[in-house]
Amino acid sequence: MHKSTIEIRQAFLDFFKSKGHEVIASSSLVPTNDTTILFTNAGMNQFKNIFLGQEKRKYSRATSAQRCVRAGGKHNDLEKVGYTARHHTFFEMLGNFSFGDYFKKEAITFAWELLTSPQWFNLPQERLLVTVYSTDHESFDIWEKDIGIPSIRIIRIGDNKGGPYASDNFWQMSETGPCGPCSEIFFDHGEHIAGGPPGSLSADGDRYVEIWNLVFMQFNRQSNGNLLLLPEPSVDTGMGLERITAVLQNVHSNYNIDIFTQLIQSVAQVVGITDFKNISLHVIADHIRSCAFLIADGVLPSNENRSYVLRRLIRRAVRHAYNLGVRQGFLFKLVGPLIQIMGAVSHEIQRQQNKVELTLKTEEEQCIKILERGLSILEGELNQLSDDTMPGEVLFRLYDTFGFPMELAEDICYQRNLKIDKSGFMHAMQIQRQKARNANTFHTEFIERFYLTETSEFQGYQFLMLRAVIILIIINGKNVDTIHTGQNGVIVLGTTPFYPEGGGQIGDNGTLESCHNANFIVSDTKRYSQAIGHHGLLTNGTLHVGEEIVARVCEERRKCICINHSATHLLQAALRLLLGQHVQQKGSLINEKILRFDFSHDKAITQKEIHQVEMIVNQQIRRNLLIKTDTMELEEAISRGAMALFSETYGQYVRVLEMGDFSIELCGGTHVERTGNIGLFCILSESGTAAGVRRIEAITGEEALLHIYNQKKKLSEICQLVKTNPSQIQKKITTLIQHTDTLEKNIKKLHNQQAIHESRLLIPQAITIKGVTLLVKNVKNIEPKVLHIMIDHLKNHCNSAIIVLGTIANSRVSLIISVSTDLTNRIKATDLVQYLAHQVSGKGGGSPSLAHVGGINFTALPMALSNIKLWLSDQLR
Ligand code: SER
Repeated sequence: MHKSTIEIRQAFLDFFKSKGHEVIASSSLVPTNDTTILFTNAGMNQFKNIFLGQEKRKYSRATSAQRCVRAGGKHNDLEKVGYTARHHTFFEMLGNFSFGDYFKKEAITFAWELLTSPQWFNLPQERLLVTVYSTDHESFDIWEKDIGIPSIRIIRIGDNKGGPYASDNFWQMSETGPCGPCSEIFFDHGEHIAGGPPGSLSADGDRYVEIWNLVFMQFNRQSNGNLLLLPEPSVDTGMGLERITAVLQNVHSNYNIDIFTQLIQSVAQVVGITDFKNISLHVIADHIRSCAFLIADGVLPSNENRSYVLRRLIRRAVRHAYNLGVRQGFLFKLVGPLIQIMGAVSHEIQRQQNKVELTLKTEEEQCIKILERGLSILEGELNQLSDDTMPGEVLFRLYDTFGFPMELAEDICYQRNLKIDKSGFMHAMQIQRQKARNANTFHTEFIERFYLTETSEFQGYQFLMLRAVIILIIINGKNVDTIHTGQNGVIVLGTTPFYPEGGGQIGDNGTLESCHNANFIVSDTKRYSQAIGHHGLLTNGTLHVGEEIVARVCEERRKCICINHSATHLLQAALRLLLGQHVQQKGSLINEKILRFDFSHDKAITQKEIHQVEMIVNQQIRRNLLIKTDTMELEEAISRGAMALFSETYGQYVRVLEMGDFSIELCGGTHVERTGNIGLFCILSESGTAAGVRRIEAITGEEALLHIYNQKKKLSEICQLVKTNPSQIQKKITTLIQHTDTLEKNIKKLHNQQAIHESRLLIPQAITIKGVTLLVKNVKNIEPKVLHIMIDHLKNHCNSAIIVLGTIANSRVSLIISVSTDLTNRIKATDLVQYLAHQVSGKGGGSPSLAHVGGINFTALPMALSNIKLWLSDQLR
């Protein structure tokens, strides 16, 4: 009886419903609250807690057709897909379950009835054979005695992988959780197909295909390996819908059943080939199912966990299509046909068809770009290979430079019977991480944790606004699916008009907006390998990975940056023209306000040279030269005169930027269309940054104009202040300065005269210490030479005295010391010099009757002077 896949699924559910089972809908491919598995890998997953006795339901028997993915984790069939007739990454598992209700006997009886009853699947009994776990005599007996299968077709399967219960006939969901011995039912596809019965050496062939697994759930495996008894013995069975359909539709390969035949036709049409047997069509037909269902169940391609598996699936499909000559996204075109072919079970995909298609399209396009670059390089490496192992560092270079996935390289090598050096790859990766860590502490954590292999296409040479899809959101160094209002984060887009900081040019600013009014303010843009990260703050709404947004670069700011970048090229050419060809770029910073250019040159640039450079650059601006870019091989660029920096590494192809006949440089930055757009160029400063390196800071366009306006404004204000006009200003200021000088001189003269005149007024301030007259004075606002005149005057008035005068002029201390000759046998002026000089950080000298001190510590003068009394008192003891 020929039945369609849809009918077979229904018949299974109907059969078990008739046996008192509750029909339960398939659960999501993303397990709920279960970290032990990556994807839903069996029908029993959603009932795990019931088996464990942690949850009770109103039914003790259930049946379902569960969508499963086995492409990662414990149950992983990914590598086999396309190479066997019966493996899939996505499949549906038909199952019946008993939660402490029936056990082995009923499970076996139900299975046999469904498979062989003429009312149901009506399979010839002689083409079925079964296996049991080697020590499960109970099941053996049921098969033999109750069902009547000749013992020769009941095969005991033991522990073939070492240790008890490590057997094909002992099933467990993951490293921990429900498990138990199982009995499997096999269908014999006939002698014409190679392969031996289960348990035989040639069991891997396709002749005998396992169609149903009856698991007798008895244990709960602990993380330490111990098996605890489940509260009640239970049953979990699983039959691959595609496999039983192949049997019932009398075809050997799952890929020949109705749904796959139709799907493969759709794939063939989309990729444009007619050879339906091509393995790549099988792979694509398989992968579009897993990818579409995964995306519909909320998984989005990225670099972590299940998202990474999805990415691998998409990339694998794309690579197979690429081998068939496909150079554009195509998977997304299969979503529609898939929905039609799969019918009701693809309801979730249908509901989210746009999202599924858009996610696939974005990821595919990105992947094609990676492939194009990487495959041609890998091909070259394969041709040069001298042995049968692809070196790890070659694979790493492909991965690191082009984002070419290691597993694809592995797949290609595998197809050509080549080995790959995985440990070499890991080693190269470690070295790279260490380098990144040393090079830049700010980015280290980011790169360390997210070795981003996403590719963002930079479209910002042509566009400042684009629709784009979010392919990654990172908050606090973690990949997340969603960003909410008030959160800072990094958003990576598939395509972006935002320029990521590089080549001295600052990253763009702007906004990412969704149609739901989410607004992400981009404050900086940076490159991470092939991905472009938009740093910023979500000021409103919520954004999700996979969502389409409008990316808008702040146009005004970008324009100013472009102007400055183009002017930097003119500046470099002008410097080389004026100072010589030794001028080489040593660094640059280009933002919307200023350009800074560091270059090799061993002496300061004179004012005249600065003026000349400004003149040359502005001349080229007025010539309004066309600025054009070209991509060419590095050698060609160099032969055309572009300067390559030795400190930089370039790929084979480089972007060359020419400004008429005046400048040619390698550059990835953004520029204006013609030099005339720069408007005006004005140097602000010239300085040295290191030995042999000079720095010029300059401004352009409106900023330069504003600068000039401000200068003019200041000039006119000054003119107003000094009451003249700009043409007379220098003369006027010179006169003013001369006038001021004269005034200052006169004032000083007056002060001096006044001090001399008032010297005698100091006499009453003299004190007597042990019979010696002492006059000490800090004289303000006089020139040091006046101290001498003052001392002369004072000496005339005091016959016997020690006089010390000090003053501060030009931040220096001057002291003069006079000791009358009648006292020099007791106190010498030079003794005081010694005492005072160290206090004012100075030195001095003279004769016993007249000496002076000069020092720099002017703040110490008052204290030094007041200390003299004590000192003298000591000396006179
Ligand atoms: N859980 C078992 C399997 O996946 C039976 O359903 O094979």
